[in-house]
Amino acid sequence: MSGDKIKVGVIGVGRGNSFAQAATDVVGMELVALCDLWEEKLEEVGGKYGVATYTDYDEFLGHDMDAVILANYFHQHTPFALKALDAGKHVMSETASNTTLAEGVALCRKVEETGLTYMLAENYPYTAFNQEMRRVYRTGEIGEVTYAEGEYNHPMAPQDRMRISPGLKHWRAQIPSTYYCTHALAPLMYITDCMPKRVIGLSIARPEINAPTTAIGDPGSVILCRMDNGSVFRLFGLILPGHSNWYRVHGSRGAMELTRGGGYFGPGQVRVWHEEWDMPEGQQTEGQEAERVYTPDWPEHGDLARQAGHGGGDFWTNFHFANAIRSGEPPFLDVYRGVAMSSVGIVAWKSALDEGAPIDMPNFADEASRAPFEDDHWSPWPEHAGLGRAGQAQPPSSILGELEPPSQSRARARVIWDEMGYAGDDR
Ligand SMILES: NC(=O)c1ccc[n+]([C@@H]2O[C@H](COP(=O)([O-])OP(=O)(O)OC[C@H]3O[C@@H](n4cnc5c(N)ncnc54)[C@H](O)[C@@H]3O)[C@@H](O)[C@H]2O)c1
Repeated sequence: MSGDKIKVGVIGVGRGNSFAQAATDVVGMELVALCDLWEEKLEEVGGKYGVATYTDYDEFLGHDMDAVILANYFHQHTPFALKALDAGKHVMSETASNTTLAEGVALCRKVEETGLTYMLAENYPYTAFNQEMRRVYRTGEIGEVTYAEGEYNHPMAPQDRMRISPGLKHWRAQIPSTYYCTHALAPLMYITDCMPKRVIGLSIARPEINAPTTAIGDPGSVILCRMDNGSVFRLFGLILPGHSNWYRVHGSRGAMELTRGGGYFGPGQVRVWHEEWDMPEGQQTEGQEAERVYTPDWPEHGDLARQAGHGGGDFWTNFHFANAIRSGEPPFLDVYRGVAMSSVGIVAWKSALDEGAPIDMPNFADEASRAPFEDDHWSPWPEHAGLGRAGQAQPPSSILGELEPPSQSRARARVIWDEMGYAGDDR
């Protein structure tokens, strides 16, 4: 680090733009370089920030910088994280940390070996209401979690889905319904500090929802997680009609939730409630409301968080990453939690293809528990073909099997991709 500032490079200038924008004095960061294969977009964004630009990741890693933020393709983060850690850079990675269990093992080992900071850039725990629910939970008011629900269900218009998913091989076209589970799970783990032990997945295949697009992965899933304190978490996603980003936690002495309603996260209010006989000490006076509903404010840095995207969450990820680098203390979203959350999506897909058979999760912090998975390259992604054990077939992205997008949708998509300047050969 030169002076006080952490010099940061970002790979991927789509989502990466938010990180670039937030890498400022406010969090003690300075953006120094950007990397992307898409030259036109790279030059546009590079010009905006006036920083060095690279199309080659290895050359980018040679730039003088302390940390790398990974906002490249969803299913390619681990190899890029391993290279950055090998080059001595701290890493913050977009979701997912890993898309095979073998990658999860390799990533944990690499972070342990290098002693560098690794953080999953999960922004959903850092909305004002999720931070408030963590604060309330830690006071003990609702007791210990027994059951929790997290929903990240984000339908989009077909033409918008095509725009953010250029190419038939784009990860958004191929992603199985359980893999994007961290927006539903991470806030619940942040509030309660529990870890997943066993997973059940059920996928919802509705070809008519994908028909106007080139996507072949199922549009919805439910995941049940048995957590390490015996509680059960239910996760729901992903793009089924009926937008819902929402969280609820039941404890042994009461419950709390984000209130329901329209908008990206609903009205943003927290509701805490108890049975009358379970009211907290000192509140058991006659006529006392057994519930309260309120709009929480930020614990700190409200002005900065309000300017950031995804309900303020985008400010907090850079903030916590910078603090972790400075202090040398792992962030909450460290490699073990990042890999565990991401692996729930993988394990849930194994379960979903077996119509909900329960599967135990490895403990990625324990070498004896994780070692049996070091060669587990089971994956639907074409990039991972051939890595698995001899004769091991790749799983499909739908419980209905290998699907092809309708030719009419391909034709419509090509028009949109032409407009965007996408010239890939997977059209
Ligand atoms: N946390 C959130 O709220 C949130 C929101 C949007 C996206 N994301 C995540 O951000 C990541 C990126 O998503 P996106 O929306 O920007 O779309 P995307 O995945 O299509 O974009 C990735 C970008 O990385 C570039 N890239 C890919 N491989 C590269 C390589 N080898 N070298 C250089 N550049 C490369 C691509 O050209 C593209 O511009 C994904 O992991 C996604 O899950 C998170």
